[in-house]
Amino acid sequence: MQKAYEAGLVIQTKPGTVPQLKRYLDEQEGVCLGDSWTDIPPLNSQAKERLGYPTQKPEALLERIIQASSNEGDVILDAYCGCGTTVAVAQRLNRKWIGIDITYQSISLILKRLEDSGGTGAVFNVKMTGIPRDMKSAEALANKSDDRTRKEFEKWAILTFSNNRAVINQKKGADKGIDGTAFFIESEGGHGRILFQVKSGNVKSGDIRDLIGTMTREKAALGIFLTLKKPTKDMLQEAKTCGLYHHKIMGQPYPKVAIVTVQDIIESGLRLNVPLSMEVLKSAQRTTQEDNQLPIFQPEMDEAV
Ligand SMILES: C[S@@+](CC[C@H](N)C(=O)[O-])C[C@H]1O[C@@H](n2cnc3c(N)ncnc32)[C@H](O)[C@@H]1O
Repeated sequence: MQKAYEAGLVIQTKPGTVPQLKRYLDEQEGVCLGDSWTDIPPLNSQAKERLGYPTQKPEALLERIIQASSNEGDVILDAYCGCGTTVAVAQRLNRKWIGIDITYQSISLILKRLEDSGGTGAVFNVKMTGIPRDMKSAEALANKSDDRTRKEFEKWAILTFSNNRAVINQKKGADKGIDGTAFFIESEGGHGRILFQVKSGNVKSGDIRDLIGTMTREKAALGIFLTLKKPTKDMLQEAKTCGLYHHKIMGQPYPKVAIVTVQDIIESGLRLNVPLSMEVLKSAQRTTQEDNQLPIFQPEMDEAV
């Protein structure tokens, strides 16, 4: 008691009252966390960090796990990393990280997430394996016969070409000729729609006519036909007949129907250069998610894409 008194730790609120020991909150050990954590709520539909990924976890949860079990510079592995909550938090807490996911959509979302929080430089040092780097690996992905990975080639082509800014059409079966959509800023307050269609097999001019038909039906301003095989002269001619779209803000014309080959994407690094509208994209992602009551992302395969 004397020692505590000399250390200034004894307080008597009034003369004659029982002396009390001062206790500082930050010096207390606290209560050990139990097995069930109820103080971190799941993400609600209005949460700021929400990205539209059906199983997204709150950053606060991963922050607690990572801080409790690692130090700066350690390597964090998430073998089913989804939209990359572990990756984003590990990066923010100065850990190295390895993220693995079977679907390219997840990889695309993580790249965008890192870029949104850390700028374009944040993805420069990210090493990616298992995604097409050359024509041979693009063909291998396109020719995977497994039903679970059937759409991965389409997703990779659309998301890579759009710099991870397009929405993949998740509806199975009748996709009504649309594999992906992006929205671009057309004029102040207005936006236009870009439709993507991907083909990995043989292509013909009828495919371009189909895309034009879909664009008319959907009132889309631009159509992009992504193909693994080289387009025929007739296809290029058919696309040219659609003419040009004059962008009011960019002040430059774009072909209404563009044919882009996988070779253009891989070897020439060709990317969509229309300024895309991210707010419209976010609400479209929400709608896509609500349309799909089942989890969008299908599990399992031998090799991570
Ligand atoms: C529940 S989600 C993870 C969500 C994550 N915790 C987040 O906050 O975003 C599971 C992920 O595992 C992926 N997945 C399923 N099977 C896999 C496999 N065999 N190899 C790699 N990833 C797989 C799915 O694509 C999905 O993105």
